[in-house]
Amino acid sequence: MKFPIDRFDSLKTPFYYYDLELLRRTIAEAARCADDPRFHIHYALKANANPLVLAPIREAGWGIDCVSGNEVKAAVENGFAPASIVFAGVGKSDDEINYALSAGIGCFNVESLPELEVISALASARGVTATVALRVNPNIDAHTHRYITTGLNENKFGIDLRHLDEVVDRALALPAIALSGLHFHIGSQLTDMEPYRMLCLKINELQEHFAGRGITFDSINVGGGLGIDYNDPDAHPVPDFKAYFDIFRDNLKLGDSQQLHFELGRSVVAQCGSLISRVLYVKHGVEKQFAIIDAGMSDLLRPALYGAHHKIENISNPELPVETYDVVGPICESSDVFGTDEHLPRLQRGSLVALRSAGAYGETMASRYNLRDLPGSVV
Ligand code: LLP
Repeated sequence: MKFPIDRFDSLKTPFYYYDLELLRRTIAEAARCADDPRFHIHYALKANANPLVLAPIREAGWGIDCVSGNEVKAAVENGFAPASIVFAGVGKSDDEINYALSAGIGCFNVESLPELEVISALASARGVTATVALRVNPNIDAHTHRYITTGLNENKFGIDLRHLDEVVDRALALPAIALSGLHFHIGSQLTDMEPYRMLCLKINELQEHFAGRGITFDSINVGGGLGIDYNDPDAHPVPDFKAYFDIFRDNLKLGDSQQLHFELGRSVVAQCGSLISRVLYVKHGVEKQFAIIDAGMSDLLRPALYGAHHKIENISNPELPVETYDVVGPICESSDVFGTDEHLPRLQRGSLVALRSAGAYGETMASRYNLRDLPGSVV
């Protein structure tokens, strides 16, 4: 990626830089590969809620996937049609449910029987009907980091298969509930498509089971989770959307009028974003050379939280001879490390570095730990 480095020199670091041209290209490719009247993409707003990033997604006509009342609010404020909003989350509060009902969202992705009862009661009290999908925990291993695996029996998400009949029956019986379908999300950063094929087979099995009971669904939602190439973002700036959508096209048996919904987050926005930071000090330790940068885990939490690695580049002086550094942040935590034994063109005080593939779960997971300022953003 080429960075407008002359522009960066005058900006206060750290900040997120978004390449909207790459974002538009990514959206267009996803839309091309999902070109099927039954397919509907709801962008997972948790990945990045920056209004500048949301604008091209809105222009593409996509819906939104939310996991909090404030996310629903952000979606509405950024011009997304309420009917295109789906709302998941294991712990929706009464206030959040009431707000979503008043906004007229398209669908609640319901994660438990007690939640279904509460949504029904709150909808009844308002004299409205809530459209819901039941989030099913299909017990499929996504083979990803254990913190971002969601579809196993041991995970807190969704309704387990043993209780599904009971919850479906209840949803059909409750007066203020319109059951539209089943929802799934097995995990995030999946680079192998096989778990998605397993998911399709599981959904086919479930649909057959319910058809046998005379129950059919208007919609199936398979969540998100398509991974990206963190190691070599320039080789794969746009994820393999074709392989992803084809898995569902080829393996999922959809009924004639059934709609298929997707909730893509990371794959849409990760590669267009970089965290730009400045080297504060180069410090020579006993066995190590540390590059201490002005971005920390408060700006980009993924390395500290998941041991994730974002490619680091010296964008000020890519031509200098390579040296070895541990690239660390300023925060008082030993996990505030972005890379160990990184081979980088020589760094000095003031050098700008880019932490790549940071467009997803970067800015949205930033905090004010150590009372630091939140990172800024430019496009
Ligand atoms: N749908 C549901 C119900 C989800 O929980 C998620 C993500 C998505 C869709 C979007 O998944 P994606 O396409 O972005 O993989 N903070 C972690 C990722 C957490 C994902 C949470 N759920 C990270 O930085 O890797």
